[in-house]
Amino acid sequence: MTDAVLVETRTDDAAAWWRQAAVYQIYPRSFADANGDGIGDIPGILSRVDYLADLGIDAVWLSPFYPSALADGGYDVADYRDVDPRLGTLADFDAMVAALHERGIRVVVDIVPNHTSDLHAWFQEALAAGRGSAARDRYIFREGTGPDGSEPPTDWVSVFGGSAWDRVEDGQWYFHNFATEQPDLNWAHPEVREDFLTTLRFWSDRGVDGFRIDVAHMLTKDLTEPLPSRAELDALPQDGNHPLIDRDDVHEVYAEWRRVFDSYDPPRTAVAEAWVSTPERRAKYASAEGLGQAFNFDLLVADFDAPQFRTIITDNLAQAEATGSSTTWVLSNHDVTRHATRYGLPPLDGRAVKQGTEWVAAGGPAEGIDVAQGLRRARAATLLLLGLPGSTYLYQGEELGLQEVAEITPEQRQDPAFFRGGEFDGLGRDGCRVPLPWTSSGPSFGFGANGAHLPQPSWFAEFAADAEAADPSSTLSLYREALRLRRELQAEERLDWIETGRADVLRFSRPNGWQVVTNFGAEPFELGADADRVVLGAAVDSAVPGESTVWIAPTA
Ligand code: BGC
Repeated sequence: MTDAVLVETRTDDAAAWWRQAAVYQIYPRSFADANGDGIGDIPGILSRVDYLADLGIDAVWLSPFYPSALADGGYDVADYRDVDPRLGTLADFDAMVAALHERGIRVVVDIVPNHTSDLHAWFQEALAAGRGSAARDRYIFREGTGPDGSEPPTDWVSVFGGSAWDRVEDGQWYFHNFATEQPDLNWAHPEVREDFLTTLRFWSDRGVDGFRIDVAHMLTKDLTEPLPSRAELDALPQDGNHPLIDRDDVHEVYAEWRRVFDSYDPPRTAVAEAWVSTPERRAKYASAEGLGQAFNFDLLVADFDAPQFRTIITDNLAQAEATGSSTTWVLSNHDVTRHATRYGLPPLDGRAVKQGTEWVAAGGPAEGIDVAQGLRRARAATLLLLGLPGSTYLYQGEELGLQEVAEITPEQRQDPAFFRGGEFDGLGRDGCRVPLPWTSSGPSFGFGANGAHLPQPSWFAEFAADAEAADPSSTLSLYREALRLRRELQAEERLDWIETGRADVLRFSRPNGWQVVTNFGAEPFELGADADRVVLGAAVDSAVPGESTVWIAPTA
């Protein structure tokens, strides 16, 4: 018995490159450091273009590289239309784009529209201009409460923890959903809207192919007085009318952006980072009149569990079909625990593994993490993902099988979430942002000539790119082979489930005959004669071993 999931296919169209792309996320400060200042930079990326081409990805997404005080790893942008001098120049950026394009790799950049840095010229102007000024109206300023206004306007808490309001010298308060250094913009202001259109054109004119939109669901707000309390806010449904989150009117912004994207040939693409309450609400961001695609984080928070994977895959493909978008798959990014670590965590509350960042709150990987199991499962899950219809987002270092780094002292930590203790409870996000090991020896494992801005543990040597490139059984070799074969496997955006008779084994075929089999359990899964056509992953005695995936080529 099969149940088919079919999505409208537009993959022949060059403008639809994004629909089934493998997109590799670069966190620029931690990728490669060309000038030896301990911070990764654009020339560093340029120096690794061969590596990216050999990996076989279709596009790179660059986390912010703009001028920034790095209060939130660059997500505090001081100037949206320039390169941070520590990371290079606009000329370096152009050279990098040209080199990537020459290799057929497209470039996606990160746009951070919810908030600026407090060092942005607009915020500095707002501080100088004083209360009631037009300059303050580009942000969200309010008077405080209490007899002398020394209490914040509300008891709202920022995503990173602590009050969502900070007070400026003349006594007014401004709102920030994230860190103090990230004041939220007022998206009801026409200049704010216009300026982001200018930014989108600026990068599109420089040849950028697409955009990743940071916290796309938070831009517009309804701050009509009286403002609700935190408890009232939390109790309100997120149905399009919530004062702060996922408001329907945010889509007016993206409809304007779409007109800019479509004024280019090929049209520029966009993917929304939108943590919203339901798949239906997420679909609005993925609409062709809006951003076109939205991250689906469902597998990133799921257990390593066959029924969960199957339900998530089926639901998301159905949803993509309904919107005409293509779905996205992701297991790791710069905000969450690396999946090779997450999958090696001991059971918690009867679930198969701990989820999200909970493990770090519980004390880090030293406490019972099974590194070998984590890596085994990570490889299995990634091979499954790469066989699916839709696009897959990979995070730098996962192709090396890197584990999360827990050995960072409080003094060495940088993540504002660690210091403020909000939603990203525990050790925060620095552990997945440690600079990459390129060589198994030498200063900072080949990251740069003079050390790295976050400490690299000695075990990074085992995961170095040079060692893995030379080893056909390495995780890097597996990713390269998978990404190469993926070009053959990709077809119509459809899969057919093949029943396996086992609750812990998933098997599906793509329309051109490729099959993917993932054994989530411990017992081998017998393939019979199909074992002869296994071209990726390994069958042992004609069976798929526990916690592994194989790809089976079509019959000749
Ligand atoms: C980014 C984070 C960042 C936050 C605020 C998130 O969605 O991915 O890294 O801290 O937005 O910009």
